[in-house]
Amino acid sequence: MKVDVLVIGAGAAGLMCAIVAGQRGRSVLVVDHANKVGKKILMSGGGRCNFTNTGVTPAAYLSANPHFAKSALARYTPWDFIALVEKHRIAYHEKELGQLFCDESSKLIVRMLLDECAQAGVRIETSCGVKRVRKTDEGFNVVTAHGEVHAQSLVVATGGLSIPSMGASGFGYELARQFGHAVLPTRAGLVPLTLSGKHQERYQDLSGVALPLTETRVGKHSFRAGMLFTHRGLSGPSILQISSYWQAGDDLRIDLHPERDLAAWLQEQRVARPAAELKNVLGDVLPRRLAQRLCELWFESRPMRQYREAELKSIGEQLHDWPIVASGTEGYRTAEVTLGGVDTDGISSSTMQSKLVNGLYFIGEVVDVTGWLGGYNFQWAWASGHAAGEVA
Ligand code: FDA
Repeated sequence: MKVDVLVIGAGAAGLMCAIVAGQRGRSVLVVDHANKVGKKILMSGGGRCNFTNTGVTPAAYLSANPHFAKSALARYTPWDFIALVEKHRIAYHEKELGQLFCDESSKLIVRMLLDECAQAGVRIETSCGVKRVRKTDEGFNVVTAHGEVHAQSLVVATGGLSIPSMGASGFGYELARQFGHAVLPTRAGLVPLTLSGKHQERYQDLSGVALPLTETRVGKHSFRAGMLFTHRGLSGPSILQISSYWQAGDDLRIDLHPERDLAAWLQEQRVARPAAELKNVLGDVLPRRLAQRLCELWFESRPMRQYREAELKSIGEQLHDWPIVASGTEGYRTAEVTLGGVDTDGISSSTMQSKLVNGLYFIGEVVDVTGWLGGYNFQWAWASGHAAGEVA
């Protein structure tokens, strides 16, 4: 079969690219080895797909080249995607911090993309893996599970390594290497952190305890959001966010109550409630089980009147600056994204075309561009897919 554009991967980036190329009158085939398109879209945002973030800025993306994402993000903005969502009459709402979610189901986003594909004449084949890719004078010769395809342009939209059970594979990286592209080391991002040994034993039974607002810090990076103790470690948005910046051995600090000066507050409590025990006082601003555990592990619980000012100051400081020793992450099994990937040095930031091989494109998560939690990763998929679709 001959097509103008062959897209490998029917996820967020691949489908957007196919739509835009199809609308330009290009004949487009999308192949995916999974049995359904857009599996990650379907499972995203707890089934409601956090499809974009109105606060998108290049600073919200990690990449060896922090400038790379700028061009594509500026040319296809959250408002462009919102316009598409509104055209399809999909109801949505802002949850917090610019995060937009479907009111009903992420199925509607997949339906929308498939309807747009159909209108643009895009053909999609699922359960169709790719066996071999060869460059020819006219473009590419691709052997798929459903036969041979000759394509002028080849778009690699195979995503990252997270959630292998959803079809994730390292195929895009292999293809990049085959054509001489560098692939930067990959690791799990937006992922729960694990504790081990005595650190795990100390907090294990707090599994399920949640703090509505914490601040996690690694180096100059910090995030304010909720946190959750799990059986194996820590999770929740502030942990997932900082996990993308944390690597084994890095100093990770957690402020358990960033909105209140706890030292000053404890001094006030000493005057107001001199007979109250520290663990009960702390239980007013932290989850009770956590307050109790910290009093067992970090400082004795005595009636407030027995503390000197310097002691309360030190307790406050410890609560604002917990040096947590994480042993690792839960890995690709539960990670939302993959950090690293195809080196942007070899790709044009305006078209996503390879600088080494004419007609070859890389889009979405397979590229070394990874966003924060909160709709940033889909916006990168839409924007990079759109950029490639305009020229492929
Ligand atoms: P994506 O992974 O979507 O698609 C790649 C496609 O390529 C898949 O369909 C796969 O089957 C196919 N493929 C892989 N190898 C292949 C091969 N060898 N041959 C053929 N096909 C192949 N982001 C966000 O912004 N908001 C959110 O709410 C969430 N929520 C979320 C929840 C969970 C649980 C996860 C795991 C991830 C998220 N994300 C997210 C991240 C987001 O899902 C992710 O960044 C995008 O889906 C990336 O889009 P891509 O199209 O690049 O890859």
